[in-house]
Amino acid sequence: MSIALAEILAGLRLSEKMISPKYFYDERGSQLFDEITHLPEYYPTQTELGIMLDNMPEICGLIGKKASLIEFGSGSSRKTRSLLDSLQQQAVYVPVDISEDHLLESAEKIRSEHPGLEVLPVVADFTQPFDLPDPTIMPLRNIVYFPGSTIGNFTHDAAQELLGVMHQEAGVDGAMLIGVDLQKDPAIIERAYNDSAGVTAEFNLNMLTHLNREFGFDFDVSAFTHSAHYDAGAGRMEIRLISGKSQVVTSGDERIEIDDGESILTEYSHKYTLKGFAKMAERAGFEVRKVWMDQNNLFSVQYCVRRG
Ligand code: SAH
Ligand code: AVI
Repeated sequence: MSIALAEILAGLRLSEKMISPKYFYDERGSQLFDEITHLPEYYPTQTELGIMLDNMPEICGLIGKKASLIEFGSGSSRKTRSLLDSLQQQAVYVPVDISEDHLLESAEKIRSEHPGLEVLPVVADFTQPFDLPDPTIMPLRNIVYFPGSTIGNFTHDAAQELLGVMHQEAGVDGAMLIGVDLQKDPAIIERAYNDSAGVTAEFNLNMLTHLNREFGFDFDVSAFTHSAHYDAGAGRMEIRLISGKSQVVTSGDERIEIDDGESILTEYSHKYTLKGFAKMAERAGFEVRKVWMDQNNLFSVQYCVRRG
């Protein structure tokens, strides 16, 4: 049995069933996420893009010349495009993503738009150890780029561990540029995950279609509905799929029983306070040097350097 299948089955056997959000991202899931980023309710993407554009000269000045930009969970590299357009004499771009076809397509586009740039895509699950490619020209420093507040999709412990990995990848003179979504009026947050066009619901349900195809499950996808609520105490969105009937789901000889009304947790999306995130960054060995925000303080882009 593959490690991935064993991980999925272990999650489905917990008293509260859960599946990692990384299984959202097959080709269709990546397309649906792209659609989400254009929805009027989904404020994070437009807000982060606005912050980047408003502060581009300062951001580029901090990154400096001839850096290697290593992006975790690059997706369509939409924000990176505007960054790469503004950075001068950039040496290397290393987009890392689990969604292979989508990553390779995006990398090819960037390569054609930036002929002088070495683009070295890495298909990997960044929660597991993976090797970074060797560029042909030695960069002056590494910048780990982690936009989109994808950090929010990890529990605090897992996020802490991931920041530790990024600290290592940044290397001695390196830094991290990260997008972090902020705590705010819960109504704004809940709207972003319950859009009126139903794209987020489709994105959520597509996870089961992905598992049926890729891992031989037989979830009755049509029996599930999307649920997304903000837990103010925990400071996070909790996204679930709820089964409208009892069903037995199999993959090979493995059996999972799901009750009528039972839910599967598919995603957390943590929202941070500036203080809360700074503490985590510090524990991972970073110092937050600069924080940029939009005028409504919805979202932050943070530049963190290695401490000491
Ligand atoms: N950075 C983009 C995309 C965010 S969506 C933006 O800001 O809009 C999250 C991305 O992370 C997806 O492209 C998904 O495929 C990728 N991803 C999620 N979990 C991952 C994992 N464990 N390893 C590698 N990539 C992952
Ligand atoms: C990728 N990630 C930061 C998104 C988020 O907002 O947590 C994923 C998402 N899930 C539903 N809508 C968007």
